[in-house]
Amino acid sequence: MKMARTVMITEYGGPEKMSVATAGISAPATGEVQLRQTAIGFNFIDVYQRKGIYPLPLPTALGHEAAGIVEEAGPGVDQFRPGDRVAYMNAGVGAYADCRNVPSERLVRIPDGVSDEQAAALLFKGITAQYLLKKTHAVKSGEIILVHAAAGGVGQILCRWAKGLGAFVIGTAGSEEKCGIAREAGCDITVNYSEKNWPAALLEATGGKKADVVYDSVGKDTFLKSLDCAAQFGLVVLYGAASGPAPSIDPDLLNKKGCLFLTRPSVFPHNADPAVFRANAADLFDAISSGLVTADIGARFALDDIGAAHIVAESRATHGSIVIIP
Ligand SMILES: NC(=O)c1ccc[n+]([C@@H]2O[C@H](COP(=O)([O-])OP(=O)(O)OC[C@H]3O[C@@H](n4cnc5c(N)ncnc54)[C@H](OP(=O)(O)O)[C@@H]3O)[C@@H](O)[C@H]2O)c1
Repeated sequence: MKMARTVMITEYGGPEKMSVATAGISAPATGEVQLRQTAIGFNFIDVYQRKGIYPLPLPTALGHEAAGIVEEAGPGVDQFRPGDRVAYMNAGVGAYADCRNVPSERLVRIPDGVSDEQAAALLFKGITAQYLLKKTHAVKSGEIILVHAAAGGVGQILCRWAKGLGAFVIGTAGSEEKCGIAREAGCDITVNYSEKNWPAALLEATGGKKADVVYDSVGKDTFLKSLDCAAQFGLVVLYGAASGPAPSIDPDLLNKKGCLFLTRPSVFPHNADPAVFRANAADLFDAISSGLVTADIGARFALDDIGAAHIVAESRATHGSIVIIP
């Protein structure tokens, strides 16, 4: 029997709770393919799930995206053959593995010119940026947008793509070095939000102008200040909780802050339909092929060092995307 190495947790907690288990893997079932995975994308949701902030039934595998080579196609699969280079997201947890069976409807082919590492660095995060910029709000030329954690994985992609759509992009990041990275990723203005009164610095830099859309993935530490940085009738998109969950608010606060709109979206429902997922992925790969979206791989780790990957991510010690090599 073929064997697979998969990262598992049996209880929630710190990075040390993850360990690699070796077990037999069955042949792919109807509609599935078996992948030999070559590059796995780390995503911040992996931390929330490891900690139990987004609880999963235990024991559980972790990880949401990877790239690899089709080794075997199960019954009923005619779009993919052994040797095809593919990537996936939204196939349930279990991407932290060297070999995995995945429903074929969750796969997309990796275009020539895009490496497996780039695909693993960009698919989940890029398809997140795609719906945030085109569906949650269709960003238009000349709009002012504010992106928190702009030197991070999703953050950099959002900034590059928004700039390509003609937006004026303000990025925040936790250090001067990361602010520099965010400017390289297309930000017109950056603000170091580790400074206490960063909203005042932001308004000074923009000449008092606030953002039409605020993309907030940091949550607890930024959310209330995000409301202060949104223009009248502006939209605040709370799409993550890297610093912890955002505080609950009285809806009347949205009125007081300028009749704001607030939404809390997720990438999964936006890509639940396989045809819509493929169309979204094609849009992303077009943006990659045209150079609008590029991968900044800030760190690589072996599957056995998955704990170190989580430590680096949680300590904010890296930028761009983290890729795990099985
Ligand atoms: N809703 C959705 O559909 C969706 C989909 C994908 C991702 N997300 C969210 O998007 C965010 C970015 O995901 P990612 O995988 O690309 O991660 P990431 O941006 O590479 O890493 C998170 C960043 O958040 C910032 N941060 C601020 N306070 C932090 C804290 N206390 N602890 C850790 N980080 C902190 C850090 O940047 P600085 O050092 O510059 O502050 C860090 O680099 C996450 O919040 C994730 O949950 C949401």
